[in-house]
Amino acid sequence: MSTHINAPAGSIAPRILLPGDPLRAKYIAENFMDEPVQFNSVRGMLGFSGTYKGIPVAVMGTGMGIPSISIYVEELMAEYGVKTLIRVGTCGSLRADIGLRDLILAQGACTDNGFLNYLFPGTYAPIADFDLLRTAYDIAAEKGIRSFTGLIKSSDMFYGETDVPGADNWAKYGVLGVEMEAAALYTHAAKHGCRALAICSVSDSLVTGEEIDAAARERSLNDMITVALETAIRF
Ligand code: HPA
Repeated sequence: MSTHINAPAGSIAPRILLPGDPLRAKYIAENFMDEPVQFNSVRGMLGFSGTYKGIPVAVMGTGMGIPSISIYVEELMAEYGVKTLIRVGTCGSLRADIGLRDLILAQGACTDNGFLNYLFPGTYAPIADFDLLRTAYDIAAEKGIRSFTGLIKSSDMFYGETDVPGADNWAKYGVLGVEMEAAALYTHAAKHGCRALAICSVSDSLVTGEEIDAAARERSLNDMITVALETAIRF
């Protein structure tokens, strides 16, 4: 038991997929995993452990934003010995050539959240685990799933993202997309010597304003989940 996870010790697999939405964790457990067992219900943040192709894998929601994911990943690594963490989320595209359904493999994550300023006397650059990134990239390519690798921004704002002064600079300086959690995941994983990667499926475009429809959302989530699971079981 930890503060926000009421699972017995040893009940969470050492590799975990992390969607923001707890009901997506349930969807992944029910549709992709064998013999999933629910290990958490505190605050409705559902978590399940099971197997994929015979290898133990877990999945759990993180909630939205840096404070929420930080709480869960700290407890998963510090209290439950989780070693490999793969976020499976959605993001907004900042580039005209990165469209709905494309995957972004977050090589590094910028943020406008203040936690890195509190932690460091300089500018820390949160990065993905290279082996996880390389593996996910190869698996996406093998499966013919379009992916882009590079920087994302973990924002503190879902609404008003483009209204603030300097908002254009993220894209100008090479940031591919916007989500809300990866920078925290990478930073906490680094502290614990764990591997982390964020894979994001583009659900909307901040360039064109278009948004994914329900059918395409499900198809692209399934592609992303497959890439994440195939990556996770190799670690
Ligand atoms: N901004 C932040 N997070 C997101 C977005 C976005 O446009 N789309 C999906 N997650």
